[in-house]
Order: sequence, then C-alpha cells, then structure tokens
Amino acid sequence: MEYIVEVKTGTKDYQVIIGNGIHYGERIAAVRKPCKVVLVSDDIVYGLYGEKTEKELKEYGFDVFSYVFPNGEKSKNLTTAAELYEFCAQKGISGSDLFVALGGGVTGDLTGFVAATYLRGMEFVQLPTTFLAAIDSSVGGKTAVDLKTGKNLVGSFHQPVLVLCDTDTFSTLPKEVFADGMAEAVKYGMIKDKELFETFEKGDFDINRICKRCVEIKAEVVGEDEFDKGLRKILNFGHTVGHAVEKLSNYEIPHGSAVAIGMVIVTRAMESELEDKTMTNRLLKVLEQYNLPVSCEYSANDLALQAVSDKKRAGSTISVILPECIGEVKIVPMTMEEWNSYVNKGV
Ligand SMILES: NC(=O)c1ccc[n+]([C@@H]2O[C@H](COP(=O)([O-])OP(=O)(O)OC[C@H]3O[C@@H](n4cnc5c(N)ncnc54)[C@H](O)[C@@H]3O)[C@@H](O)[C@H]2O)c1
Ligand SMILES: [Zn+2]
Repeated sequence: MEYIVEVKTGTKDYQVIIGNGIHYGERIAAVRKPCKVVLVSDDIVYGLYGEKTEKELKEYGFDVFSYVFPNGEKSKNLTTAAELYEFCAQKGISGSDLFVALGGGVTGDLTGFVAATYLRGMEFVQLPTTFLAAIDSSVGGKTAVDLKTGKNLVGSFHQPVLVLCDTDTFSTLPKEVFADGMAEAVKYGMIKDKELFETFEKGDFDINRICKRCVEIKAEVVGEDEFDKGLRKILNFGHTVGHAVEKLSNYEIPHGSAVAIGMVIVTRAMESELEDKTMTNRLLKVLEQYNLPVSCEYSANDLALQAVSDKKRAGSTISVILPECIGEVKIVPMTMEEWNSYVNKGV
C-alpha cells in the first residue's frame, strides 16, 4: 500500500510518498523536467542503492553526477560541504538543477544545507533510507552541519520539493539503526497519538502505515510552526536530556537511544503529578521491546547541567516538554534550579 502525505508550510508545499519499490526517476520526473542531478549519498548507501537510483534517474532523462562521502556523523561538517560545493561548481551545476539526497539523516541534513546555500539556494529531493530519516529528518526543512563544538550549529531552514520513502530500503538497516528510528516513532505516540503508542505496545504493525502516521504528525506540527518558535518544540520531547546523554557519552550512545533514555527520565520525573501512574512502566516496556536502552550511568546533576550547558546564566529559563498522558505533552518554562530538581526526580 502506498501513502501520500501533503506537507504545507509557509515557504513550500510538497508531498511525502511512502511505499514499497518506489521508482525514484518516475516520481521525480513528475515534479521536475530533465536537468542535471547531484546525487549525494554515503559509501554504504551508495553501495546498496546508488547504481539503481542513477539508472532510474537516467531512464527519465536526468543527467546524474554522484557525490559519495564516508558514512557517519563525522562527515556532516563544513569540510564535506565545501568539497560538495566544489564538486558542483566543477560539474557546472546551475540554479535550475537539482540535488537528491539518498540516505539517512546525515546525508539529508548535509545535502539540504548545501542545497540551501549553493548558488543562494537550489531545489532538493529527499530519498530517506533509514527509519529515522523517513519519519523525522527528511520532513520539515531543518538542514545543518556540525561544528567541533557541537552538533547542528550551522544550518538553515530549507524545505525539500519532494520526499520519496521506499521502505524496502529498511531491509538492509543494521538492527541498532532501525531501533534509533523506533525511539522517534515512540516519541510521536507519546506527544500526539495514543493509538500509535498502543500499536507499538501490541508489536504487530505495518511499517508503511507507521511511517505515514509519524510523517502526518510531523507535517501537522511543522505546518503550524515551521521556524521552531513554539509548537515545534514538542518534537523535542525527551531530547533535552537525550542531548545531554549523547554529549556525556562523547556521541558513543546514538541519538535514538539517548532520546529513549531522555523520555523515560522526564516521564518518571512527572509521575507523582500524572493521573495515569502506569505511564513510565508502559514507556519502559515499549522501548525495551524494541531493543532501546532506558537508563544510563550518568548522574542526575551531570545530566541536568550538560543539558543546559549553554544557558547557565542565572535567572534564565529553559522550555521543557512534559508528558500529561500518553498522546499529550505540554511546554513548561523552568528555571535552572527547577530543572535540576526535576531531573533528580526522574533518574
Ligand atoms: N533535520 C532534522 O530535522 C533531523 C531530525 C532528526 C535527526 N537529524 C539528523 O539525522 C542524523 C541521524 O540520521 P540517521 O540515524 O539516519 O543516520 P545516518 O544517516 O548516519 O545513517 C546511519 C547509518 O546507517 C547507514 N544506512 C543508511 N541507510 C541504510 C540502509 N538502507 N541500509 C543499510 N545501511 C544504511 C548509513 O550508512 C549510516 O552508517 C543526525 O545527524 C541528526 O542530527 C536531523
Ligand atoms: Zn531526534
């Protein structure tokens, strides 16, 4: 079964098409006349799906130039971006040509960033091949690269013109990479959709329907708050502590695992105020069911401090996303002192 989700933002409307065996060339040709395509992919994904993608694009008249970089977060930086700019300039890529990102969130974020800035902005298409990229990073237009000091510090809002999610590509994903995406999927259930959460509890689901539902939620939130000024913050449920876990582990603990731990800590911290006292346990069970960690070795004080390390000024507040019940969260401003005692309750 194929699904189409319409994303409507202030800057661009586009479709996310989710299905099995999607013909990339045919679908891109439906929105763009033949042109030069810069196909960006990491070495692993290119090895698996690069040739097939090139062939499909060429079949529909696109002139393809493939740029392949070493896989992993360590490539999501300005050095790779600069190499890609030079590659494009050497191939004579002009403003009416197209970027296509084939891969996970690293490829999508990097390609989106280069597309946003090369020749002051070019169109790009996302072909997500990880579960996380399909339900999260490929939709919403946040693009970025990392600096040595921290992740995603240089970036831009730049929406794609089309997202094609062929879930057949998930068959080659390593288990841990799939689990990373699962943490974000559980997050969508926690923030907006009790039924989705219950589907995960049952454990038997159709991956295309799940991707569709998660993308619908992301599209709804981004449609209301494209530039992250208010509602979009709810997508950060579990992420404030999650980012601290990632940093404290020196990025050894992957993002999804860190978010899983973060969601557990903020939910447990709220438990005394929640009507549903089973909530933390239900969350723990679901995450464990999908091979995600639910605790870490770091102290509450370290987690609380690391999470706000850039905002330690006295009197400043942070926005924390707190659960109310499964399927609902609220955004609450907290002082540093409140935040510290809150994390202490959750660890
Ligand atoms: N822009 C956003 O809104 C947003 C949201 C969430 C995360 N992100 C970013 O996304 C990145 C994480 O994304 P990710 O988890 O997809 O990481 P990733 O792109 O590094 O992919 C993870 C690993 O899986 C491999 N891989 C990808 N697809 C595969 C496939 N089909 N079969 C086999 N192997 C495959 C990759 O080569 C890589 O080694 C982070 O940089 C994060 O900051 C961005
Ligand atoms: Zn995330």
